[in-house]
Amino acid sequence: MTGPAWYDRAGPVRDERGRERTDETRRGYDEVAAAYAERFDDELDGKPLDRMLLDLVAHSVDGVLADVGCGPGHVAAYLRDRGAAVVGVDLSPHMVEVTTRRHPGIPFRAADMRALPADDGEWGGIVAFYSVIHVPDLSAVFREFARVLRPDGTALVSFHVGDEVRHVEKFLGRTISLDFHFFTRPTVEAAMAGAGLEPRAYLERRSYPAEVETTRGYLLARRA
Ligand SMILES: C[S@@+](CC[C@H](N)C(=O)[O-])C[C@H]1O[C@@H](n2cnc3c(N)ncnc32)[C@H](O)[C@@H]1O
Repeated sequence: MTGPAWYDRAGPVRDERGRERTDETRRGYDEVAAAYAERFDDELDGKPLDRMLLDLVAHSVDGVLADVGCGPGHVAAYLRDRGAAVVGVDLSPHMVEVTTRRHPGIPFRAADMRALPADDGEWGGIVAFYSVIHVPDLSAVFREFARVLRPDGTALVSFHVGDEVRHVEKFLGRTISLDFHFFTRPTVEAAMAGAGLEPRAYLERRSYPAEVETTRGYLLARRA
């Protein structure tokens, strides 16, 4: 990756599509949780398009809005501050600890996004910013999103646009092993549609100066 990077990339860029590395992903985010929170907690200040989309979701969703793959919880806090009833879920228990300390008013839980801590139809909306990028099989993710969303519920998912997997072994000064899966719009839309989530809108933007230089995709979908 070029541009101002938020990690020091030591590993090679390689195509490893289909590899499932949940344990390494959990360990990686456990390792960087505190540094990640320091680095990204105020990032929405410099992301007007992201804020616009989050405003839309915060004001249109009825019921509980879940931040899935919430990381340091800044997106959940932003949504809460706009009146949404928010919960957060993340794979990394340490990330959840750090995040709970930073945002004590929001319930955060450690769980895999393919086995969410919610009953069928319990949630009104899901926001998943740059978290599905660690799960190669989007079908399993969106089947679970469709299960926990009520009919007409909303999902807003963001990802890096492309068709590759970037492997990272240095992240925020720590040694980890993370795969970042890029997805094309048709891939994400097909996985959504196959799971009963109707894609309704797609927005693509270039990276902001402080971000890793990738094209960013945002898909808004409705649970059929
Ligand atoms: C790149 S960070 C994004 C965090 C936050 N959403 C943001 O926008 O900054 C990816 C997050 O997704 C979480 N994650 C990765 N795989 C996951 C999974 N299978 N289930 C739940 N969370 C996962 C990671 O632990 C990490 O906190």
